[in-house]
Amino acid sequence: MTDRVDYLEAKRAVDDAALDREALATLSDRLPPEPVVLEAGAGTVTMVERLHEWGIVAGGRWVAVDADPEALRSGRERLLERAATPVGEPSPRRGGDTANGSNPADGTTTGRERDGDVPGFAPVRLGAIRVEFVVADVFEADAEGYLSGSLPDRDDLSGSPPDGVGRFDLLVGCAFFDLVDADRAVDALGGVADLVYAPITYDGETAFSPSDPADDAVLDRYRMHMEGHRDGSPEGATALSRAFDRAGWTCIHDGPSPWRIVPPYFEAERTVVTHVIETIEDAVGRTGFDASEWAARRRRDLANEALQYEAANRDLLFRR
Ligand SMILES: C[S@@+](CC[C@H](N)C(=O)[O-])C[C@H]1O[C@@H](n2cnc3c(N)ncnc32)[C@H](O)[C@@H]1O
Repeated sequence: MTDRVDYLEAKRAVDDAALDREALATLSDRLPPEPVVLEAGAGTVTMVERLHEWGIVAGGRWVAVDADPEALRSGRERLLERAATPVGEPSPRRGGDTANGSNPADGTTTGRERDGDVPGFAPVRLGAIRVEFVVADVFEADAEGYLSGSLPDRDDLSGSPPDGVGRFDLLVGCAFFDLVDADRAVDALGGVADLVYAPITYDGETAFSPSDPADDAVLDRYRMHMEGHRDGSPEGATALSRAFDRAGWTCIHDGPSPWRIVPPYFEAERTVVTHVIETIEDAVGRTGFDASEWAARRRRDLANEALQYEAANRDLLFRR
């Protein structure tokens, strides 16, 4: 298996190219100077670094939540290697890798009972941004009221929250909302902020070229897996828009952010496509269809610098 952390790091360059700049401009216009941000499914915490480097977020507080401790740990280490500095000692926060509630077998957490010092996840300072790391299932964390408790010193950053405004200025979920049930996400997380940025939200189309005789069967089964074997929807962006609409929110931006990888590849692109082929082979296998020969041919095409891959994503912004 490709390493998930390596994949998330490699995906960053592909996201950089894909992200819809108009969505970022609209986001930038709507953020206060020192925003307090919750990122759900932050992975290796590339978004805050990107928005910092691109001059979109210059200060405030960024709370990165992910169920995968290895992803967060790796992201924290990368930030420290590049530009960030540690902030004080490990703070007594929920979340953790081996504390109660984690599952050492698969590296995920149950989102429960993780109070206490968590060595290795102390906040860091990236320029004027305080970045915090929370290992938790974001839904369980919210159900426990944890997220409201995570902002005790907001006044230090940006003054008192205005009346009626959520606890965070912004909720971010990059390549996250297509993995979860859209109504559940809006219901559980819509209350934490009045502005939501959902970039790289998959929206149903995966294409490889040149064509392979098994493409249709494999991609149909891949879709079947997304529909029936996991949370989320193959049309994740459309499902998210509808869920926010049902909840009375307004979509203020909806633009394309397609992944398009063509030869000659950068190394990161090769890693991403390798991971995608593996993900599809595995997902399709779970529906009872053997895609191993298809995957072998696609790996060979990749090795021969002859494979093009495209995935349709959308960058969405919602406000309450
Ligand atoms: C496709 S990755 C995207 C990571 C990162 N946002 C990025 O774009 O590079 C999705 C991430 O969401 C996390 N995730 C999925 N469901 C989650 C949940 N319920 N609570 C917390 N994290 C979750 C996974 O662990 C994974 O790191």
